[in-house]
Amino acid sequence: MLGVEGMASRGPNGHTCVVGLGWGDEGKGKIVDLLCPDYDVVVRFNGGANAGHTVCVDGEKYALHLLPTGTLHTHIQSVIGPGVVVDPIALVTEIDAMAARGLSVEGRLHISDRAHLVMPYHQLEDRLGESAAPADEQIGTTVRGIGPCYADKMRRTAGLRVCDLFDAARFRERVAEIVRYKSAVFKAAYDYRDELDAGAIAADVLAAADRLQPLLRDATQFLQDQMADGRRLLFEGANGAMLDIDHGTYPYVTSSTTTAAGVASGAGVPPGSARHVLGVVKAYSTRVGRGPFVTELNSETGDAIRKAGNEYGTTTGRPRRCGWFDAVATRYAVRLGGVTELAVMHLDTLTGFRTIGVCTGYRVDGRTVTTIPPDCDALARAEPVIEFADGWDSNPAGATTVDELPDPARRYLARVEELVGVPVTIVSVGPQRHQTLFGRTQVCDRGRSVAAPA
Ligand code: GDP
Ligand code: IMO
Ligand code: MG
Repeated sequence: MLGVEGMASRGPNGHTCVVGLGWGDEGKGKIVDLLCPDYDVVVRFNGGANAGHTVCVDGEKYALHLLPTGTLHTHIQSVIGPGVVVDPIALVTEIDAMAARGLSVEGRLHISDRAHLVMPYHQLEDRLGESAAPADEQIGTTVRGIGPCYADKMRRTAGLRVCDLFDAARFRERVAEIVRYKSAVFKAAYDYRDELDAGAIAADVLAAADRLQPLLRDATQFLQDQMADGRRLLFEGANGAMLDIDHGTYPYVTSSTTTAAGVASGAGVPPGSARHVLGVVKAYSTRVGRGPFVTELNSETGDAIRKAGNEYGTTTGRPRRCGWFDAVATRYAVRLGGVTELAVMHLDTLTGFRTIGVCTGYRVDGRTVTTIPPDCDALARAEPVIEFADGWDSNPAGATTVDELPDPARRYLARVEELVGVPVTIVSVGPQRHQTLFGRTQVCDRGRSVAAPA
C-alpha cells in the first residue's frame, strides 16, 4: 500500500479531516481511499446522497454517495454521523450494490440514531422548488431532497430522525401528520394536486429501516469510545467549501457545513478533534449546478478541460462547468477551514495547454479585490484577474515522484502554494490509486507564510 510519508504529521491527536476547497468533486473520495490504510474509522459528518465520491481500484470504479469511502477497506469501521441527512431507501440500495461487488458492510457500518431522515417527500419538494423557480433562480440541486430535509430539521416541526424509526406505530402517525402539512404546502405553493400516500411512504421507509436496523446506533458514543481507545479517525467531508451554507456562494450552495468546522457538530466529537486538515483542490476549477463562477471558461479551452478531465457529475451525470484555478477562492477556503496542506488533483488533465491560467484577484465594479464578495450579484459581475504560466506537453500520468513532473508543472504547483499559503503534499496525476505523488515539490519551503496575491 502506498505510504503517506511525504505528508505532514497527522497532528497532535492522530485524526485527519479531508475536505473539498471548491464547489465539490475535487477528488475527496480518491484521497480518503488512499489514506484509509493509516486510519481505523472513517466518518461522514455532513451532506447526504448529494455527494458522489469516486474511487478507482484495480480497474474497478466505485461511486459512493452516502457510504463513507472507508467501506471499501474491510479493516475500517465507517460512521454516518448525526450531521448527515440519511435517505434510508437510497442507503439500502447503495449497501446492496456494494454487497453485490463482494463488500458487505455488516458489522463495520454505524449509522447515527440522531441523523435526520431524507423522506420521499423531500425529493419531491426539491424537484417542485427547482421547477417552480424561474430558470435564472434555480439552484441546480442534485434533487436528492437535501435542502428540504435540512430545512425541516432546522424548522423543528417536521423533522424525522433515525431514532424515530424505532417506534413504528408512532413513526406512521408522524408521517401522516407531516404528509398532511406537506400536501397543503405543495398545493398552495406549487399547485401540486397529486395525492401523497402517507401509509405507503411510511411503509417504504420502515421496510428500508428494517434492513438497516443492525447498523443504527448511538454513533456519537461509538466515536467517543473509539477516540478514548486511541483509534485514529478520518473525517470525510462531502461537497466543498464554496458550497458551504454559511461561507459559500449563497444561495447557490448546499445546506450543510462543508468545511472542517462541521466535523465537531456533524460527527459529535470535541471541537479541534481534527487539527490536521487536508484540503483537496483540482489544478483547475469546476462547478455543477448554477451560481457565480468567476474563472469559468465558456470557450474551447473550458470544453477541452471538460473533455480531458471527463468532467461529468458522479451523482447526476451533468456536465461540469470548467475554469482556471481560483487562488482567491482557494485561499479563502484554506483560511476558513484551518487547512494545513493541499492535495492538488488532475494535474494530468492540464497537459497540452500552451499556457495555464491562475486567478489571483477579482475585478468588481472597477476595483480589484483578493477576497470573496458576499453578494452573489457582485460575484456574478466579477472578472477574474488571470496570470498565465507555461504549460507542459508531456503527460505526468506515469510519474512516480514529484521530481519526475515536467518543470513547468512543478513551477505551477509552487505558484499555487505561494498564492494559497499552505504546502502541496499530494499531487494526483490520474484517477487510479497508484497515480498519486506524495511529498513536496521542493520548490517552496514547507509552511511558508505567504502574503495575499497582489
Ligand atoms: P469527490 O466528490 O470530491 O470525491 O470527486 P468526484 O469523484 O465526484 O470527482 C472526481 C473525479 O476525478 C472522479 O471521476 C475521479 O476518478 C477523477 N480523478 C480524481 N483524481 C484524478 C486525477 O488526478 N486525474 C484524473 N484524470 N482524474 C482524477
Ligand atoms: P461531492 O461530495 C458537486 C451542488 C449541486 C448544487 C448545489 C446544491 O461529490 O463533492 P444540493 O443537492 O446539495 O441541494 O445542491 O450544490 N452540490 C455538489 N456539487 N459535488 C457535490 O458533492 C455536491 N453536492 C452538492 O450541484 O449546485
Ligand atoms: Mg463528487
